[in-house]
Amino acid sequence: MNSYTSELVKPPQGPLRITSTHSGLPFSLVIPTYNESKNVGKLVSYLSALLDNLLPNQYELILVDDNSPDNTWEVAQQLTSNYPQLRVMRRQQERGLSSAVIRGWQVAQGEILGVIDADLQHPPETLKQMIHHVQAGADLAVASRHVHGGGVSDWSPIRRFLSRGAQVCGLLILPSVVGRVTDPMSGYFMVRRSAIAGHTLNPLGYKILLEVIGRGNVGEIAEVGYVFQEREEGESKVTWKQYVEYLGHLVRLRSQGRIARIRQKFPIGRFLRFGVVGLSGVFVDMVVLYLLSDPSTLAWGLTRSKIIAGEVAILNNFLWNDAWTFADIARSQQGMGARLKRFLKFNVVCLSGLVLNVLLLNLIFNVVFGQQYRYLANLIAIAVVTAWNFWMNLKLSWRVTQVKKSDN
Ligand code: GDD
Ligand code: MN
Repeated sequence: MNSYTSELVKPPQGPLRITSTHSGLPFSLVIPTYNESKNVGKLVSYLSALLDNLLPNQYELILVDDNSPDNTWEVAQQLTSNYPQLRVMRRQQERGLSSAVIRGWQVAQGEILGVIDADLQHPPETLKQMIHHVQAGADLAVASRHVHGGGVSDWSPIRRFLSRGAQVCGLLILPSVVGRVTDPMSGYFMVRRSAIAGHTLNPLGYKILLEVIGRGNVGEIAEVGYVFQEREEGESKVTWKQYVEYLGHLVRLRSQGRIARIRQKFPIGRFLRFGVVGLSGVFVDMVVLYLLSDPSTLAWGLTRSKIIAGEVAILNNFLWNDAWTFADIARSQQGMGARLKRFLKFNVVCLSGLVLNVLLLNLIFNVVFGQQYRYLANLIAIAVVTAWNFWMNLKLSWRVTQVKKSDN
């Protein structure tokens, strides 16, 4: 072991674009940092142990620090004497997570370009399967909290809700990008250099994966489940500002420049099955309503009866969708817990559909048609809500992403 630390890497300037030339090194992993001095030692030692095994002498680690007040860059630079595969960039002009990652990739030599958080919230072992998938042909491998084997550790309901809300906004604003992965917020992924080389990346805020999928030329995507760990040292840099930037980023991606359009086949078979199940639900709803509220039967109050009838219909639809419409997905997410989770999500989506239905009916009847054609307005509202229910359940409850998935 030598005792010399290596020189700092100079931050590149100019457009945020990656060239296609590389040295033949298989893998470069960028670690963006801001005030992570307490974490970098442990992280670099974990990563090195893992990668020395997996890709001996065939990888590099590039830490990109934005001149942290806690001198993360300096702590990291001292590590280079023990870890010669580590290079450190100290940025004094530019700031921000996404540009840090791209600047790191710009000086990278690898054919596969990756990124991992420095705070040990991304378990390094997941890299193994991600690398495996890219070597097997995927252009992009994403560590996901929302496929089998994935999750979050200790999140409050509010945080889960915000995270999901952000995903739903993404599905609405930019379905062709956000809908391609189960965890569009992931900051833990690797991409084949050739898929992004030559495209200028223009990210805003935190979510660089959106930029990679949106601007790059990403064919096959693989997803690997991982559990988002709790932070032990240092603090998260996320504030409300990142949520605003995220929305701004989606709008900008949508409105500006070329969006990579990978043709996604409309799942017509699934949609038809979903429609048939929906019709069966109408029948169930009617029968239960009759049994509970009709004067010749139980004669219960209308509201109470309808709530029960509606919920029985939702249960009916869920069971058929789980067993038929989305049977392939349900098979890969077995167990009572997973099933219950799907049912709860299905309920939430149906409820949101009901609210949307009422709003749309009012809007179309009162505003668009000038208080005429009540039933036509209702028919249109129902059609829109059916599409909404289908799409949201496809992306959230059963999570179909048209990609190759890893199960372990
Ligand atoms: N260079 C640089 N500049 N690094 C930064 C900056 C910056 O301005 N801001 C944050 N980082 C680094 C942090 O030091 C950490 O290594 C990583 O980026 C993630 O930042 P955190 O602040 O820890 O983010 P988080 O854990 O709340 O948020 C994460 O959310 C996703 C899941 O919801 C994201 O960063 C994703 O990576 C993650 O998957
Ligand atoms: Mn973090």
